[in-house]
Amino acid sequence: MKQLSGWLAVVLPLILAISLGLITSYGLQKAGDEALGSKKYSDYQTPAFCGIQCHNDIYQQWKQAMMSQAYTHHWDEIEYFKLAVPQAEKDPVVAGVKAGCNGCHTPLAFLAGDVPPAVPAKGTRANESVSCEVCHTVTGMAGDTPFNFNWISEPGKNKYGPRQNNNSPEHNLVKSDFLSRAEFCGTCHNEKSPYGVWVKSTQLEWKDGPYAQEGVKCHDCHMTYAPGKSASMGNAYPDVRQHLFHGAHDPGKVRGTIELRIHPDINEAVPGDKVKFTIVLFNQKTGHKFPTGSVEDRIVWLHVDAVDARGNVYHLPVDKKGFEGEEYTIAADTLAYQDMGIALNDQNFKGVQRDGVPAGDRIFRMPYFDPQGRMTIQQWNTKSQGVDYRIGPKETRIETCTFVLPDSIPAGLLTVRAALYYQRLVKPVADFLGVPADETEVIEVNKHQTTINVID
Ligand code: HEC
Ligand code: HEC
Ligand code: HEC
Ligand code: HEC
Repeated sequence: MKQLSGWLAVVLPLILAISLGLITSYGLQKAGDEALGSKKYSDYQTPAFCGIQCHNDIYQQWKQAMMSQAYTHHWDEIEYFKLAVPQAEKDPVVAGVKAGCNGCHTPLAFLAGDVPPAVPAKGTRANESVSCEVCHTVTGMAGDTPFNFNWISEPGKNKYGPRQNNNSPEHNLVKSDFLSRAEFCGTCHNEKSPYGVWVKSTQLEWKDGPYAQEGVKCHDCHMTYAPGKSASMGNAYPDVRQHLFHGAHDPGKVRGTIELRIHPDINEAVPGDKVKFTIVLFNQKTGHKFPTGSVEDRIVWLHVDAVDARGNVYHLPVDKKGFEGEEYTIAADTLAYQDMGIALNDQNFKGVQRDGVPAGDRIFRMPYFDPQGRMTIQQWNTKSQGVDYRIGPKETRIETCTFVLPDSIPAGLLTVRAALYYQRLVKPVADFLGVPADETEVIEVNKHQTTINVID
């Protein structure tokens, strides 16, 4: 007995000391806001270093993806420098975003404490955006929920990825399960505003949806597997993750996301008759809601029109359903986004047109509201949100249009067309801030048409 307690007296403090050591060393690995200024640029390799000699194919894919432009892309530059930084300098509640935006858009600048970084035209290392080393030095995250750049970065000889072997002369390959999980993506794809509102929740939407249940994760749609080599001097594998990260900026990815069919309730009608058209929308492609991510910027709308036998076109507004907050889901000639005036030093700014799409069309969106309750595209200035009318993964949504055939309508075939469109940034905002036209490109997600016969 005496012997045992003597042994315990030695071992217990040892265990305590080791676990304490582990806790403190873990504590030293800063994440999220705490990591600001905790590293140097020179702790990390440049993407060109990784790409030119060894990982050329992956480098070329990444170069074409938005990951390599998250800091330099025109709209990111405009929003950060014209709206976010000026507001952060005036409003203590949102002061943190001056550094915080960079935690996801140019993590090395954030880690290096280079805040605000030089503008993209200066060509500094901030331009590397979300680089190879940003992701391949991540060892885990702080806490249980991924959000607001709470990844932990440990730069050095170890590169974390899907395989472990001695195949690389340049670095140690360390197998990381974390990089293979949706939570990893969620560290940047979930965002909470300074007011505590989820203003980006792609990983949370996925987790609540059918794909998480089936084990289909972000990587399976945005970094698909293909056979080949992942390094010029490495082995060939059957399953190399493609670094496509294709989403909102790839029209091919967006097209066909929603299947769309339209049908009438009767096949023949006379002038004065009321004909009802039903539009069925099925989200067959996204693992999260559509749209997701920068929901404050994006707009998806359903446009329905009819063409009579003489070629006259009638715009058919959707039937209202009467739910609370529906006014934000029907395009209207309303002003919004008045809080842009804060950064632009115009307290009486009246705002710009809210939607920029034909009045009466159905909008699939979720409005974000500023502390004064006005609709905003500034996700960091968001205190509440309105009705979420986006289309969930594998969800089917029904819309209807009722058309009272005008007395003047000619006999013959009446063609009724339904089309769903997607735009990355509402046009009136883009026009107002001078964002180049490619950001307001209208992508036709899908379309379908039906006919009825008009008889005298
Ligand atoms: C089943 C396939 C699938 C899965 C799983 C999936 N996505 Fe997507 N994702 C898509 C498609 C299709 C689009 C293009 C349509 C769109 O923009 O929503 C897309 C678009 C996006 C966009 C751009 C959205 C926008 O409108 O701006 C982001 C960001 C994104 N995905 C991130 C993720 C992340 C992060 C995960 C995991 C949590 C994930 N995706 C899981 C299919 C998928
Ligand atoms: C946004 C994060 C991210 C960025 C940026 C990124 N990667 Fe990756 N990379 C990943 C993930 C995730 C995997 C796959 C992990 C898994 O499946 O377990 C991966 C896998 C790899 C692999 C292993 C492929 C294999 O199958 O053996 C290599 C090599 C690689 N990346 C190199 C690069 C290079 C080089 C760059 C920059 C040009 C880069 N990565 C940029 C996230 C990233
Ligand atoms: C370090 C932060 C970070 C991590 C980690 C990260 N992303 Fe992203 N991702 C971004 C940023 C920032 C953008 C926005 C780029 C832009 O348009 O400015 C983005 C954009 C995207 C897009 C949209 C591209 C487009 O065409 O508009 C997709 C898809 C995407 N990421 C997928 C993923 C997936 C899948 C993972 C996990 C394997 C992941 N991301 C991990 C920061 C990150
Ligand atoms: C938690 C990570 C995170 C933070 C913090 C963050 N962003 Fe982003 N941002 C993203 C991701 C991820 C996307 C891509 C979402 C998508 O594709 O829909 C994005 C998209 C954008 C876009 C749209 C890009 C495009 O081309 O459509 C702009 C502009 C932008 N962010 C600016 C900012 C500004 C300004 C801040 C600071 C106020 C900020 N972001 C803070 C992760 C973040």
